[in-house]
Amino acid sequence: MRKVTVLGATGSIGQNTIDLIARAPDDYDVVALTGGANIQQLADDARRLGANLAVTAHEEKLDDLSSALAGSGVEVAAGSRAIAEAAARPADWVMSAIVGSAGLAPGIEALKQGATLALANKETLVCAGSLVLETAKAHNARLLPVDSEHSAVFQALVGEDIDAVERVIITASGGAFRDWPLEDLANATVEQASSHPNWDMGQRITIDSASMFNKALEVIETKEYFSVSPTQIEVVVHPESIVHAMVGYRDGAVIAHLGAPDMRHAIGYALHWPQRRNLPVERLDLTKLGQLNFKSPDLTRYPALKLAWDVMDRGGLAGSVFNAAKERALDHFIARHISFTDMADAVAAVLDRFDASDGLIDAEMTLDNVQKTDHLARQWVDDTVVERAG
Ligand SMILES: NC(=O)c1ccc[n+]([C@@H]2O[C@H](COP(=O)([O-])OP(=O)(O)OC[C@H]3O[C@@H](n4cnc5c(N)ncnc54)[C@H](OP(=O)(O)O)[C@@H]3O)[C@@H](O)[C@H]2O)c1
Repeated sequence: MRKVTVLGATGSIGQNTIDLIARAPDDYDVVALTGGANIQQLADDARRLGANLAVTAHEEKLDDLSSALAGSGVEVAAGSRAIAEAAARPADWVMSAIVGSAGLAPGIEALKQGATLALANKETLVCAGSLVLETAKAHNARLLPVDSEHSAVFQALVGEDIDAVERVIITASGGAFRDWPLEDLANATVEQASSHPNWDMGQRITIDSASMFNKALEVIETKEYFSVSPTQIEVVVHPESIVHAMVGYRDGAVIAHLGAPDMRHAIGYALHWPQRRNLPVERLDLTKLGQLNFKSPDLTRYPALKLAWDVMDRGGLAGSVFNAAKERALDHFIARHISFTDMADAVAAVLDRFDASDGLIDAEMTLDNVQKTDHLARQWVDDTVVERAG
């Protein structure tokens, strides 16, 4: 039996992971499930899968979780420290599916105990790429990509020499506002931004897809995970979300990965790797699809995407600053303090402030420094929002 832990079990990726695990319960010993506010879902899944431990991120919800799991024999805990401790419990495979930079510290704990970390939480590599990769190496742990684009690149690289790679092309659906008139974007509402044309995902990543902040994170994640240079990474808008990524080789060949837009593809690949097992996903019929479309992203529509290259040029802690600023700008958009288009402006302003801040750019990449810059960047976004309101 494989010992598995799911961090962020109550979310979109977490639930898809549990769907796969629950189909073969005898294959898995569930060490821990963690969640946030959705106590009932966490408790139901912990009971159903016979988890050893269930943890909520919210300390004030510990009593609710204890009551929901009374008599089940499942151990309960609460708080971010308890989540990191859950990740540190010996397991063979840990799904990292917490949303945002809150996923970083537990992911590092999982690597330190030598687990295979299935990485849906792209923020982990964006905020602390070199630290995470060094931790994995030092503890003989493995990182497997779960983002559909990175899983696709990983699969298109099997058996190939990374030195023969000329370019990596990741696709983007274009999100909710792909076909909107540019002048309407400033008035886009939270509800409109929260609806994705192809993928069924959590609210935050869905809004980040509409702005392409999500794609910007994925570009940085591509550079970190595959050690390619920023100039080798391309993004194309592909409205059908069937081709997830392509790898172009120096002989001119391009190997593409195709699949229906269902995250259980990438999750299942990471769960069963290096084997391929049967997965409950739709089989593609290209004759029914008829055609696939590709076009260059319009950077006037998606200014957040361009910021990815600005961040990679800066290097070091710029990824952490970028991600935290993006998360905080998103909080303000969801709270209706700023408009949809203000988000990219606010994040660009924070990156400029980062350039001007003494010592930060050259600071060492440690978890402590990442967390400090994360905190500072959020504060800078708040300052920008207050200034604008004034
Ligand atoms: N959804 C996708 O298709 C997809 C695809 C590729 C990559 N990803 C990445 O996977 C990650 C998860 O995305 P998602 O769409 O599954 O998000 P989601 O549906 O919002 O779920 C997030 C999970 O994290 C928990 N959580 C929220 N805040 C937390 C905190 N401060 N500390 C600990 N746990 C916390 C949530 O708990 P509660 O819900 O109980 O509050 C939930 O379990 C993100 O990094 C995203 O970019 C997602």
